[in-house]
Amino acid sequence: MSVKIHHTDKAQPVTSEARMHLVSKDHKWTDLGLEKEEIDYIKSQIKKEKGLIQLGSLGMVNVICVDLGEKDSVKRRESLRKSGATFCGMVNGAGAKAARIIDHTDSAYDWFDAAEGLALANYQFLKYRKDSGKEQNSLDTLAIQAKHAGDEQLHRLNCLVASVFWARDLVNEPVNTLDAIRLADEAEVRGKQAGIKVEVLNKSKLESLKFGGLLAVNLGSQTPPTFTIMEYKPKKAVNKKPIVLVGKGVVYDTGGLSLKPTAGMDTMKCDMAGAAAVMAAIYGAASMELPVHVVALIPATDNRPGEMAYTNGDVITMYNGMTVEVLNTDAEGRMILADALAYAGKYDPEVVLDFATLTGAAAAAIGQYGIVCMGTADDKVKKEMKVAGDEVYERLVEFPLWDEYKELLKSDIADLKNIGGPVGGAITAGKFLEHFVSYPWMHFDIAGPAFIKGPDTYRGKNGTGSAVRFILNYLENRAKK
Ligand code: BES
Ligand code: MN
Ligand code: ZN
Repeated sequence: MSVKIHHTDKAQPVTSEARMHLVSKDHKWTDLGLEKEEIDYIKSQIKKEKGLIQLGSLGMVNVICVDLGEKDSVKRRESLRKSGATFCGMVNGAGAKAARIIDHTDSAYDWFDAAEGLALANYQFLKYRKDSGKEQNSLDTLAIQAKHAGDEQLHRLNCLVASVFWARDLVNEPVNTLDAIRLADEAEVRGKQAGIKVEVLNKSKLESLKFGGLLAVNLGSQTPPTFTIMEYKPKKAVNKKPIVLVGKGVVYDTGGLSLKPTAGMDTMKCDMAGAAAVMAAIYGAASMELPVHVVALIPATDNRPGEMAYTNGDVITMYNGMTVEVLNTDAEGRMILADALAYAGKYDPEVVLDFATLTGAAAAAIGQYGIVCMGTADDKVKKEMKVAGDEVYERLVEFPLWDEYKELLKSDIADLKNIGGPVGGAITAGKFLEHFVSYPWMHFDIAGPAFIKGPDTYRGKNGTGSAVRFILNYLENRAKK
């Protein structure tokens, strides 16, 4: 359920909505209309380092969120998002339709973070459920009563939540309803809504342009590949050269002839999460009207075994003319990304950021708790990215692209092979991609956080919309420079 978030100065009778008071630890407490017992209770909970306190006396859900962390720190902001998510569960548990966040602190972000956590936690994917009516969350409006809340920030928040929800929807949609063609259609429909120019290169166009990697992966499929180009170019862009985003759009990854076992295949509808992230991010940037010139490139296909499927031992000539010996058809993401990265050079980009559920090795290394990244951008840009990631708690971990890893990709008969050795799988995948870039570049492997089994606070479960908030925050920070 999406939540309409609006700003308000007006007080409402307490029982008409669920409410969450954001207060600091040293709050005076007398202004909240609480009983003495309640105040004593709050104080005792604070002593136990409890941040979120539920009060029973007022009928409707009424919680006090006491912020225990350092002002506006990364941890504090995340704890507020999580409290927002917990509050969301309470509101829906009580069957309330309306909620309100009242910020008594003078932090610039507290209300925003709590509201973000609440709104993101309210996501559901029920379209294929007969009992969707019964299951649907009751919460549909959120009022913000906060000194620092302005219309512009609320608009931003609404856009951000809509973008993340779109990315989650795309990831949760299975391949029988979202193939490469429909993924491109989605980009066209939403792009038009937000004022983004969208062009879709079809199979014959890709053949004439010699997108060898993308076409090879598509050989086993009954559905043609697509390559979608989205461009958002506002008049007052702060950047002279565009920021180019590239997203892996493998709408389903069976592994191809190097077939995955069932357990490894079950969740592979998520293998277009990189595509979903960049589509949603450019959509968000355009709906927020950020003054940044952004291009998103989305190579898309499914990866399947089939009579004509690309085969171990094949030598593929890629878009940039390099040859690749295929030694595992399950290493398909790098094949389609390589073409897209080489194509990105045409834009003379300021920087290129690619997002992909690329390797199980990245997921094994750090789990769902962050994003593995590596690349050739300079240290200043890397630092800015790290900060942008921390601010939204999509934390980045940089892996090295040492020269030695290049040795592992040597082929006897082609310029490169598509797999490395048994070690450093996330890195050799990145090292492979590095051969196709000619500009400052960062690669983000979201195989860990993109799709998760259990519910995780405001990230929900299944498709998480991983990297959307990171990209948007990076673009917003870039716009302010
Ligand atoms: N899509 C997978 C990676 C993946 C694994 C994503 C788990 C999300 C969760 C990718 O195409 C893949 O199969 N990678 C192989 C590479 C190997 C064959 C070199 C892998 O990680 O095993
Ligand atoms: Mn694969
Ligand atoms: Zn894959």
